[in-house]
Amino acid sequence: MAGFTINGVSKVYGGANPTETLSNIDLKIEDGEFLSILGPSGCGKSTLLELLAGLQLPSSGEVLFDGKPLRGPGIERGVVFQDPSLYPWRTVFRNVELGLELRRATKAERQERVQKYLDMVGLTGFEHKYPHHLSGGMKQRAGLARALANGPEVLLMDEPFGAVDHLTRLQLQDDLLNIWEAERKTVVFVTHDVSEAVFLGNRVVLLSPRPGRIKQIFHVPNKRPRKRDDIELVSIQNDIYAAIHDVKTQEHLEYII
Ligand SMILES: Nc1ncnc2c1ncn2[C@@H]1O[C@H](COP(=O)(O)OP(=O)(O)OP(=O)(O)O)[C@@H](O)[C@H]1O
Ligand SMILES: [Mg+2]
Repeated sequence: MAGFTINGVSKVYGGANPTETLSNIDLKIEDGEFLSILGPSGCGKSTLLELLAGLQLPSSGEVLFDGKPLRGPGIERGVVFQDPSLYPWRTVFRNVELGLELRRATKAERQERVQKYLDMVGLTGFEHKYPHHLSGGMKQRAGLARALANGPEVLLMDEPFGAVDHLTRLQLQDDLLNIWEAERKTVVFVTHDVSEAVFLGNRVVLLSPRPGRIKQIFHVPNKRPRKRDDIELVSIQNDIYAAIHDVKTQEHLEYII
C-alpha cells in the first residue's frame, strides 16, 4: 500500500539564521491517489516533496510510508523534477535505461521496460536521439519515462511542467492523467498553478506562505475524464483563489501564484 502518513512534521534549515520552512504538517496521502500540492514560492513545497522522497529528514515529527518511518530514498518512490537532468552523452533510450542498468536488470527486461514507457510517454521513434535533439516537453517526457521504468509505486513530481510552453503543458497534463489512469500509481504533484492543481488532483492541498502550513484541503470530484471548463472544477478554482486572497488579507504577505 503506497500511502504516506505525515505526523506533525516541521522542517527547520540550519545555518547562521535557522528558518522554519514547514510547520506542523499533518497529512495522509492515500494509496493510488493523485494529490496536488499548491502554494506560493518559498512556502516549502519542494521541501515537503523531498521529505516524502527521503532526500530530507524532518526536524520534528515523522513521515511514514507504507506504515513504516522513512529513512531515505527508495526505488519505490520515483522523483521527477522541473529540470529532467538527462545525461547529454546518453541517448533517450539509455537515459531511461539508467535505473534498470544500476539494478542489473537483464538486457531483455531493460529493452522491454524502456520501450514500454517510451511508448507510453509518446517518445516512440526518439529512442536513439540525444537530449539536445529534444524539445523541453520531450525532455520532460523522457524524465517521466525514466522514473516510470524503475517501476515505482509512487511518483513525486516537483513542478515538472513549469518550464514548458502553455500548450505543451496542457498536453503533458492530459498525458500524465492517461498514464495515471493506466498505472494507478500514487502521485504527489507540486505546482504553483491553480488550474493545473485542480485539473489533475483528487485533492488539492493549499499551503500558506512560509513557514508552510496546511491552509486548506480541497476535494475535487473524481469524475474523469475531466474537462477544463467543467463548472465544478472552475468553482473549486474560485474557492482556492478566495482562500489565497484570505491568506493575503489576513497575513499581509505578498502571495504570488
Ligand atoms: N537545502 C536547503 N538548505 C537551506 N535552506 C533551504 C534548503 N532548501 C530550501 N531551503 C529554504 O526553504 C524555503 C522553502 O524552500 P522550498 O524550495 O521548499 O520552497 P518551494 O515552495 O518549493 O519554492 P518554489 O515554489 O520557489 O520552488 C526557502 O526559503 C529556501 O531558501
Ligand atoms: Mg520548489
